[in-house]
Amino acid sequence: MKIAIIGANGQLGTDLTEVLSPDNNVICLSHHDIEIKDIDKVNSVLSTIRPDIVINTAAYHVVPEAESFPDKAFAINGTGTLHLAKVCSDIHARLLHYSTDYVFDGKKLKPYTESDTPNPLNVYATTKLAGEHFALNYCEKSFVVRISGIYGKVPSRVKGGNFVSTMIKLAKEKPEVRVVDDEILTPTPTFAIAKNTAALIKTDKFGLYHMSCEGECSWYEFAKEIWKTLGLQTPLHPAKVKDFPMLVKRPVYSVLENANLIREGINEMPNWREALIQFLKNNPVNF
Ligand SMILES: NC(=O)c1ccc[n+]([C@@H]2O[C@H](COP(=O)([O-])OP(=O)(O)OC[C@H]3O[C@@H](n4cnc5c(N)ncnc54)[C@H](OP(=O)(O)O)[C@@H]3O)[C@@H](O)[C@H]2O)c1
Repeated sequence: MKIAIIGANGQLGTDLTEVLSPDNNVICLSHHDIEIKDIDKVNSVLSTIRPDIVINTAAYHVVPEAESFPDKAFAINGTGTLHLAKVCSDIHARLLHYSTDYVFDGKKLKPYTESDTPNPLNVYATTKLAGEHFALNYCEKSFVVRISGIYGKVPSRVKGGNFVSTMIKLAKEKPEVRVVDDEILTPTPTFAIAKNTAALIKTDKFGLYHMSCEGECSWYEFAKEIWKTLGLQTPLHPAKVKDFPMLVKRPVYSVLENANLIREGINEMPNWREALIQFLKNNPVNF
């Protein structure tokens, strides 16, 4: 399969490239190669490559910044995805686009399936939800994959890190670390997402998917597991969301259930704790 990966040098793009390259003809596109805000550029680049599938990891996903720059967030997460969907449709390519657990408001307090109704609380999530609709409704052969709490060996480019790298940095630099225990998620390594994506794109079961690890935890429990696995000595304390200045509204509960992957018999996502321990073992020197 000829696969064009947009954002190939990003956190998720790097693992997608590694996982998909052995069995496919993978074309890596960085921001230098393609600007998804520009439909003419999208058209010229993808019409030249003629991929069987385009995988889009590009996003404007610094959540607090998106509140200040909603036009920019919509131009990338919304209209940018529309451009990809239109061009993919024109050149008869499939599209796989990543979205987020943040499309939900968290009030359900139980795992969200693909049939639950989104209610995004902030600009980032609202623009990502718009992108979902554009992908699904402007490209007949599209997959939209919601992911959650991601971390990889290459830190997120736009954020300059991820929760794991940030915790290790804080443990090295601060006398103590406080992490909230009243926001619940499912941490998920990008390598696991890349592997399950490889299984999904072999099918023609287009539509909406949740793809996060199994189980759930608070950010504090996530940090505690990092401390335990790495033997960090810096004191770690639980805190509450209200202890930190709220720059932006976030869901207090954003656990995803991979109902559609399970239905199709292709849910390969590991438990979050085992995946984290494995990740820390495999990447000992990167922090
Ligand atoms: N972080 C989380 O916990 C989380 C949770 C749920 C969903 N997600 C989603 O996960 C996806 C991947 O995140 P990630 O951490 O891999 O991101 P990342 O490391 O920041 O990588 C994004 C890539 O896209 C490129 N890019 C950005 N804007 C672009 C544009 N306008 N046109 C073309 N390329 C552009 C970036 O290039 P430059 O850096 O050179 O601009 C970079 O190569 C995003 O869709 C995000 O919304 C993340």
